[in-house]
Amino acid sequence: MTTALITGATAGIGAAFARRLAAEGHDLVLVARDVKRLREQATELHDRHGIEAEVLVADLSGDEGIEAVAARLGERRDPVDLLVNNAGFGNKGRFLDVPMADELRMLRVHCEAVLRLTAAAAEAMRERGRGDVVNVASVAAFVPRGTYGASKAWVVQFTQGAARDLAGSGVRLMALCPGFVRTEFHERAGMGTDSIPNWMWLDADKLVSAALADLARGKSLSIPDPRYKALMGATKLVPRGMLGGLSSVTGRKYGPR
Ligand SMILES: NC(=O)c1ccc[n+]([C@@H]2O[C@H](COP(=O)([O-])OP(=O)(O)OC[C@H]3O[C@@H](n4cnc5c(N)ncnc54)[C@H](OP(=O)(O)O)[C@@H]3O)[C@@H](O)[C@H]2O)c1
Repeated sequence: MTTALITGATAGIGAAFARRLAAEGHDLVLVARDVKRLREQATELHDRHGIEAEVLVADLSGDEGIEAVAARLGERRDPVDLLVNNAGFGNKGRFLDVPMADELRMLRVHCEAVLRLTAAAAEAMRERGRGDVVNVASVAAFVPRGTYGASKAWVVQFTQGAARDLAGSGVRLMALCPGFVRTEFHERAGMGTDSIPNWMWLDADKLVSAALADLARGKSLSIPDPRYKALMGATKLVPRGMLGGLSSVTGRKYGPR
C-alpha cells in the first residue's frame, strides 16, 4: 500500500487526483483549508474504496500551514510515496488591479509552498530510493499572463531543474500543465468564462488519467491534451507581442463583483 499527499484536494483537479488514486488503492493525506469539506471527502473515499484517508488542515499561504505539511512529508515511519502540489488560485484582474497582498499570497502558495514541500518530500524519498512529485503548473506558464503565469513558469522551470538534479536517485518530478479545466477555480476568482470557447475546456478526471500516464512514462513535463500540445507548439511560432495580447484577455475579464 502506498500513500499520496494531495494539496488542494477538496475541489477540482485535486479532488480528481484523490478520486483516481483512492480507486487505485492508495492511502491518502488530503490537504486544504476547509476542514468540513476535507472530513466529508475523507469519509466518502474511505467508505467507497476502503483506503485510509487522513485529513490535514493547512493554509499554504502561511508559514504554519507549510511547516505542518512539510512535517507530515518528512515522517519516516509513515512515508509519502507521491506528493501532488496542486493547491492554487487565480486573482481577478490585471496587474495593478490586484491588491499587492493577493499577489504575494499567490507567490507563497504557488512558489514558496511548492518549493518547501517538494524539498521535504524529495529528501525523504531520496533516502528510500523512490518517490514521485507532481507539481501542478499551467499552460499559462508559456504565455505572458501576469503574476499567475509567472508563478506557473517558475513551477515548470523549478520542477524540470530539480528533476534533472535528482536523476538516478529514484525520485521523479513532473510539472503538469493543464489548459482550462472545469473546476471552482474561475468562479472563486470571480473571473468570467464567457470568452473561453467550449473546445478549450478539459475534464478534470481525464486530465488526471493522462497526467498519471505521463508520470509512469517518466516525463518531467506533462501537457496532457493534444489540443493544448498543438497550441503550445504554435505559441513558439507566434510573435510574443501578439501572444501577450491574446493571453492576457482570455478568461481574465471581471465576472460579476
Ligand atoms: N482550472 C483551471 O482551468 C486550471 C488550469 C491550469 C492550472 N490550474 C491549476 O490547478 C490547480 C488546482 O486548481 P483547480 O482548478 O482545481 O481549482 P479549485 O477547484 O478552485 O480548487 C482549489 C483547491 O486548492 C485549495 N486551496 C486554495 N488555496 C489554498 C491555500 N491557501 N492553502 C491550502 N489549500 C488551498 C482549495 O481548498 P480550500 O479552499 O479548502 O483551501 C481547493 O481544494 C491550481 O494550482 C491551478 O492554478 C487550474
